[in-house]
Amino acid sequence: MTRRALRGRLLSFVGDPADAGAGASHRHIEDGLVVIEDGLIRAVGEAHDLLGGLVPGTPVEHWPDCLILPGLIDTHIHYPQTRVIASYGTQLLDWLQRYTFPEEQRFADPAHAAATADFFLDELLRNGTTTAAVYCTVRPESVDAFFAASERRNMRMIAGKVMMDRGAPPGLLDTAEQGYRESRELAARWHGRGRQLYAVTPRFAVTSTQAQLEAAGALLREIEGVWMQTHLSENEREIATVRELFPEASSYTDVYDRAGLLGPRSLFGHCIHLAAEELQRLSATRSVACFCPTSNLFIGSGLFDLATMRDPARPVRVGLATDVGGGTSYSMLQTAAEAYKVLQLRGQNLPALEAFYMMTLGNARALGLEDRIGALEPGREADIAVLDCRATPAMAHRMESVEGDLAEELFVLMTMGDDRAVRATYVAGERRHVSPRAG
Ligand code: GUN
Ligand code: ZN
Repeated sequence: MTRRALRGRLLSFVGDPADAGAGASHRHIEDGLVVIEDGLIRAVGEAHDLLGGLVPGTPVEHWPDCLILPGLIDTHIHYPQTRVIASYGTQLLDWLQRYTFPEEQRFADPAHAAATADFFLDELLRNGTTTAAVYCTVRPESVDAFFAASERRNMRMIAGKVMMDRGAPPGLLDTAEQGYRESRELAARWHGRGRQLYAVTPRFAVTSTQAQLEAAGALLREIEGVWMQTHLSENEREIATVRELFPEASSYTDVYDRAGLLGPRSLFGHCIHLAAEELQRLSATRSVACFCPTSNLFIGSGLFDLATMRDPARPVRVGLATDVGGGTSYSMLQTAAEAYKVLQLRGQNLPALEAFYMMTLGNARALGLEDRIGALEPGREADIAVLDCRATPAMAHRMESVEGDLAEELFVLMTMGDDRAVRATYVAGERRHVSPRAG
């Protein structure tokens, strides 16, 4: 049996601060211990209560100046876009044609796919992210390369082959039948193998015919427990194009609804420009809207409306996501910081406790994985991020005026922090990333 314990300041959520209230939403232990056995959290509590009961010889890794949290979770990201991030000067449809589709064609080469998957996953770990919902490319080889790299690191990942049967260069197209067959084979190979999980992934309605969307719906009905991920209502030109391509549908959401793609394991990237009936359907089906702030600002798509998603009359479940490479940072801290700014422009707010809830338990719930990840609780998988609130000189300087106020400390951490604030990342109890103190 592999055992270790992590000692430090612990922060873990038990509820959404927006519902439970800030005080009841989390557990914060100044000198805590997380005991890990065979990849699972065995015990969590005060260090002075637990240290005496440790099996003799259990190594204790002490992070005296750090916050120990559940590993961060990203609900929408593209691994083939590590060389697309920070591409200048376009909005969505031109950005896809000019930058993204050419790069995604390179993933026909398994060596390119494997090297990129390795880079991508190590970069997530450097940012404290241990789980993500990931788009691969249309090529099955790109999916095999991704899951193989994730399996080697024992990371809990959701991923899938992009399905596209129109609107892209020939090298990136499948057909409705081929997309169905290849997705089915990939799900059979990877879904539930170790920590790997499959998502049926029609890219969006612009690049899938009705027949392909229906094939995606069939996959969801036929394969037990898989996810669905796509893009919805990101950009005005995209929405107009969907209206032309699907004149019989009453809305963009209705295009997916008719194909049977809405549901509690369905993740919709962006969801910026939605009408009331669309929100109603997303709410009724318990579908998830993925808020991608750095992407929405960078590609100039628009401002996500969190308050509307939370309308008690028809609440829509929300996840927070980087959307690299439309998004500009792998860091969920930076993503939360930009979410705050987007909501500022909407006259809304994002308290720091709410942001850290979203990055951890909130996103675990959005993915339906809260029984496995997202909290420091006995029985959960031991995916853990160790964060340093004084990671840079400017952060340390700013922290001097934070006097024991957790919410203020977290707000500085998310606003100024990024990969430099991640001191270590553990995956299923194994340390997969460690960095010396920066600054
Ligand atoms: N819509 C369809 N494909 C994409 C993509 O790769 N990135 C983003 N941001 N939006 C999309
Ligand atoms: Zn995306």
